[in-house]
Amino acid sequence: MSGCAQPKEKEEVVVYSYVEEPHSYARPNNAFINHLNLDISVDFDNEIIKGKATYDIVTNNSTQIILDSKHLDIESVMADGKETEFSLGANDKILGQPLTITITKDTKKIEITYKTTKDTEALQWLKPEQTADKTKPFLFTQGQAILTRTWIPIQDSPQIRLTYEANVQVPKDLMAVMSAENPKEKTENGLYHFRMKQAIPAYLIALAVGDLSYKAISERTGVYAEKSMHNKAFDEFSDMEKMVSAAESLYGDYVWEQFDVIVLPPSFPFGGMENPRLTFATPTVIAGDKSLTSLIAHELAHSWSGNLVTNSTWNDFWINEGFTVYFEMRIMEALYGKEYADMLALISRQDLDDELTNLKDTPNATKLKLNLKGKNPDDGMNSIAYDKGYLFLRTLEETVGRDQFDAFLKQYFKEHAFSTMTTEKFVTYLNTNLLEKNKISFNTDEWINQPGIPQNQAVITSEKFKNVDHILQEFIVESKFDKEVTKDWTPQEWVHFIRNFPATMTVEQMKTLDDILNLTNSSNSYIQMVWYEQALNHDYHGKNVDAKIEEFLTSVGRRWYVETIFKAFKRNNKMEDALKIYEKSRPNYHSVTVKTIDDLLGFEPEEEVIK
Ligand code: BES
Ligand code: ZN
Repeated sequence: MSGCAQPKEKEEVVVYSYVEEPHSYARPNNAFINHLNLDISVDFDNEIIKGKATYDIVTNNSTQIILDSKHLDIESVMADGKETEFSLGANDKILGQPLTITITKDTKKIEITYKTTKDTEALQWLKPEQTADKTKPFLFTQGQAILTRTWIPIQDSPQIRLTYEANVQVPKDLMAVMSAENPKEKTENGLYHFRMKQAIPAYLIALAVGDLSYKAISERTGVYAEKSMHNKAFDEFSDMEKMVSAAESLYGDYVWEQFDVIVLPPSFPFGGMENPRLTFATPTVIAGDKSLTSLIAHELAHSWSGNLVTNSTWNDFWINEGFTVYFEMRIMEALYGKEYADMLALISRQDLDDELTNLKDTPNATKLKLNLKGKNPDDGMNSIAYDKGYLFLRTLEETVGRDQFDAFLKQYFKEHAFSTMTTEKFVTYLNTNLLEKNKISFNTDEWINQPGIPQNQAVITSEKFKNVDHILQEFIVESKFDKEVTKDWTPQEWVHFIRNFPATMTVEQMKTLDDILNLTNSSNSYIQMVWYEQALNHDYHGKNVDAKIEEFLTSVGRRWYVETIFKAFKRNNKMEDALKIYEKSRPNYHSVTVKTIDDLLGFEPEEEVIK
């Protein structure tokens, strides 16, 4: 069973074809978990989760099972109802500690009583004022890449899949939701039962608790949000059912039954996170005009690439993200047409150029196949997996033709559903099922194992962006700008316009544009990000933009946005201003954003919590 974590039958001895895993202590060939039963309570006063985790395990004549754990307080462990010995190994700053439990070859269940600690990295506990409604506290988890082990002792490798159930006790006035079958209403006593019957890797176990309610968009899609966000979210995501149908027509059935989105408070560190059945999303995706909803298409696409066919290790991250960006673009094309999808593709193409420039001193980081051993996968994963991964797949599509490529991808998802994929295994599969079959020679190895972009890259063009380039040129060269010609511009055109300002752009030119267009006060988070970056690059201080930047950084915790702006401070030698803002905004960020920005700004908190 190559790379597949699901035993056919529980009693049968399963030997994993487990590829070397740099980020987990688990040894699944000795013993592995295949089902988890969580019985926990969420304590907002003390900011801890505590309870019991019971696991069904499969052993291969082993006398021990090893789980991953980080910053957890393990109280006791039982094996088939009897107390058993356990030990926590040395703490590694990135991986945490191996939790080794004594079992016999016949052990079927282990039970761990534990609690989380204040150092738990996956959890962000929010005060009422950090939420949309500002009246109740909120909690959410972020598992990817290796943080689930900081709130549940678990075998935290993408190669090990498990089903789960959970009983979660929360304060009576709050609702709990998970990456599982979810409630549609609050319960009276604050106790929620969950079941995830499809096997998933640990990084996809997720929980959110807040003053939530649910609104269905279709029978199988809908949104969870706080009251003040609900109508906006509902309108913004009203095309969700169409997205799921389009995705199914492309690459096969949606097997997770339900596709809901939860709108989290603004400190959520990602745009979106593809937790199965329930995508976690930033509120910054809500622009009022559906203009940023490709993010929803992206997380939906992960229901195939990532959640069904999962990267074997974080070195193969592009297997999740590259395929997902490709699939995202195809969904967007199906819904809104090729012209729109090509704008998105060109933005990705420019992101790729920018990332190659950022990484020019570390060319190995621009390969699709990574080597993250000894590194925190959260630091090592950059946008190469997304944008070079996309360009590779688009180039393949254009080389073999769309029909062939679609048939190939559909088969790929079907044949590898609920299993994992290494880069090497994909290459073999590609050779056998697409390239050799059609007698096509293709430089796959160069795309995957060499830095930079190969010569045969697909060339992406957009008439809309050419027009934007022309208008920008006219403004720069002839100081001509007619607002009228921009009246139908999408935010993508605005983003393209703004991020292509020449280095020679003057403060006066920035001011002229801002006076005409009021970009400083844009309500679209993407436009805000690129405009603020340019304000910093060009030393523009009009319209109170500095206060706006500070407000943005202290209210939004989405790592990509925050990092882009702090990088601009740093690049423009404005470290003092950056640190002043960061001291204020840091307490509002989730640990993954904190870590990235601490490293970027060389920030050392006074009272360092050892993580
Ligand atoms: N799975 C990722 C988020 C992620 C990646 C979390 C690596 C932890 C480690 C998610 O699908 C994603 O890619 N989100 C993007 C949005 C997307 C539209 C590119 C984001 O958060 O910006
Ligand atoms: Zn993604």
